[in-house]
Amino acid sequence: MRRFLVLVHRVPTGGQFTLNDLAGGGGRMDEIARAVSTGFLLSNDLRRDTEMTLLFSSDRPPGPRRIRLYGERLRHLNPDERSTAALLKNALVRAIPAEQDVESSPGIVVGPVDPVREITEFAAQEGGLWLSEDGTLLDDSAGALGGFAAVLGDPYGPSIEEEALLTRLGVPRVSLGPRSMRVSQCIDVIQNHFDRRPRSPVG
Ligand SMILES: C[S@@+](CC[C@H](N)C(=O)[O-])C[C@H]1O[C@@H](n2cnc3c(N)ncnc32)[C@H](O)[C@@H]1O
Repeated sequence: MRRFLVLVHRVPTGGQFTLNDLAGGGGRMDEIARAVSTGFLLSNDLRRDTEMTLLFSSDRPPGPRRIRLYGERLRHLNPDERSTAALLKNALVRAIPAEQDVESSPGIVVGPVDPVREITEFAAQEGGLWLSEDGTLLDDSAGALGGFAAVLGDPYGPSIEEEALLTRLGVPRVSLGPRSMRVSQCIDVIQNHFDRRPRSPVG
């Protein structure tokens, strides 16, 4: 399984934004929707071997939220960014009163979250790593033990607290190259890395 955790910082977690302003009032939900689309959609197929977690941190009500997308069960994911953003917004709205996880649409599970615990548990999985411009270059050791779980920042990067946590946890810091890329581009590079290694445990 190829797992991605995206740290999202400015999206209003109650879904209080309009689909006409994803980049502004949506807190760069355009980039998050693009990352989801890139992570799962092929030209005429869906990546069933992929799971993505979106960790929405927020001090404002209704507080932090987690959306988890499961490639094996995902439905209604279309190539356009706007409809993907609508699926995610719907999930956030469904979770406003939720005290536990709910499946807002097939393959999309949403609920409240403790961000520190989420990052800690995600990164502790087999193949856990932190994608960062300043890391050591990605090589064939990634995923070699059968798991792959990458933490990425959103367009604002990880917060200082998240960086400190990942450092304290000793999560390996891995780079995809010297240029700072968009989240969706990083996910594309990773997916292609494993596509080209069909004999890798996560290929
Ligand atoms: C648009 S970048 C964030 C840029 C932000 N200004 C910063 O300084 O962190 C979004 C995320 O993609 C990942 N990323 C971007 N370029 C990368 C690279 N060359 N290697 C590894 N990860 C990268 C990182 O996880 C980064 O937090």
